[in-house]
Amino acid sequence: MTKICCIGAGYVGGPTMAMIAKQCPDVRVTVVDINERRIAAWKTDDLPIYEPGLLEVVREARGRNLFFSTDVDQGIRDADIVFVSVNTPTKTFGEGAGCASDLQYWELCARRIKEVSTSDKIIVEKSTLPVRTAEAMERVLHAGDNPIHFEVLSNPEFLAEGTAIADLENPDRVLIGGHETASGQKALQTLVDIYATWIPRERILTTNVWSSELSKLTANAFLAQRVSSINAISALCEATGANVTDVAHAIGTDSRIGPKFLKASIGFGGSCFKKDILNLVYLCESYGLQEPANYWRSVVAMNEYQEARFVKTMLRSMFNTIANKRIAILGFAFKADTGDTRESPAIKVCRELAGEHAKLVVSDPKALDNARLEMPELADQIEFEPDPYKAAAGAHAIAVLTEWKEYKQLDYQRIYDSMVKPAFLFDGRNLLDHDALYGIGFEVYAIGRGRKSHLK
Ligand code: NAD
Ligand code: UGA
Repeated sequence: MTKICCIGAGYVGGPTMAMIAKQCPDVRVTVVDINERRIAAWKTDDLPIYEPGLLEVVREARGRNLFFSTDVDQGIRDADIVFVSVNTPTKTFGEGAGCASDLQYWELCARRIKEVSTSDKIIVEKSTLPVRTAEAMERVLHAGDNPIHFEVLSNPEFLAEGTAIADLENPDRVLIGGHETASGQKALQTLVDIYATWIPRERILTTNVWSSELSKLTANAFLAQRVSSINAISALCEATGANVTDVAHAIGTDSRIGPKFLKASIGFGGSCFKKDILNLVYLCESYGLQEPANYWRSVVAMNEYQEARFVKTMLRSMFNTIANKRIAILGFAFKADTGDTRESPAIKVCRELAGEHAKLVVSDPKALDNARLEMPELADQIEFEPDPYKAAAGAHAIAVLTEWKEYKQLDYQRIYDSMVKPAFLFDGRNLLDHDALYGIGFEVYAIGRGRKSHLK
């Protein structure tokens, strides 16, 4: 029986390992983490992350061939294959601060693997890492006269939060990078065979390690670039009277462009887009490629502009003062169907509104616990209210910041009746029916569309 250990029980480690365990009952999968609370939660039905369909997958395999443990050393020692899925945030100190990847967690894992292993192992980079990280890892793993052989593979993860289970069950592709040596190819084949249990072989792409590492950063950069591109156009739509949804539809029907990732918004969030682009920028700069670095940096700059522009629109339309005005924030997660708030554009929007002395009431169906932790410095200016009707009661404005489908189904007449007039609605996701809202009496502002106003 093949034994897998995954270090890191987060948004990637948990769901990916649960899927492997579900699909491959003959493989024993142990997910380990130093975070005791997280591991304890994985053992209950109150999982540490919200992801539609995840609990069903975990329940199917947990206790059969899927285990969660804080005993990292034992997990590593027992395994034939060790996936490393720890966090790789942007460095906040020293050289490359604000741009490069902080690899301290990764390196700690490599040192631990070397320290406790008593047999040869395949080490799989599941975390998103800079190109040639595998080389550094191999140096750490093989330092000294260690008789044990570690074969490092790159197997980046492409799941998106909110759709993780569907993405894992039926991925567009799985990517595995291995060395072009006999042992590299053998290890690569071992991993291919595991994925081939449920994924058609033609969708399992194999490359060398460096191409695999770089493809992951490139995929995220391209996706984020599309969002920044349509957001750039949204500003022009607002200035010219064009409608960004119509423009996106018109360009998206060109099969060379395609319809996905063309939704204008308050900006992209999430733990990875910004960090991975900045990592790409840092890599370009390290190789003396300043123009490519500038090109990718502008994708992040555009995103920051879009977030700031949204707040400016709110301020200007509410007569340039929002001090002491109650503003209901509907949605705090960085996208729908997740409780994750990392790098959510809502954080920046709330901070700036609070800076104007607004009184904020934040509502979200799944992300309130995380939202509370994001802005401790604003504790006296922010209320958290799970019920959107209570959040909106007495408010001067509503800002929709996450595209939860629940917000499409609210009774907006009831909400309007409970608000201070004029009642403003800022739709940061172009989620709602703006004509209907205008018909009720709202002052409606959306992204990349003209405003609908009853005011002179
Ligand atoms: P996360 O923060 O949710 O989880 C990482 C886990 O690793 C944490 O629980 C932490 O306690 C644990 N950890 C850190 N150091 C450890 C150590 N030395 N020993 C044991 N456990 C340790 O992060 P995530 O969102 O799962 O992302 C992990 C990696 O996957 C990142 O590189 C990210 O870029 C990449 N990725 C994330 C997503 C996503 O949707 N979140 C998608 C694709 C790729
Ligand atoms: C993204 C990628 O889609 C995954 O393939 C990748 O594995 C992952 O990053 C990662 O490496 O972490 P994720 O961040 O979970 O996944 O979610 P996305 O669906 O990509 O959305 C990212 C952000 O862009 C969200 O804030 C979303 O609201 C925004 N977005 C997305 C738009 O504003 N418009 C769009 O058209 C699409």
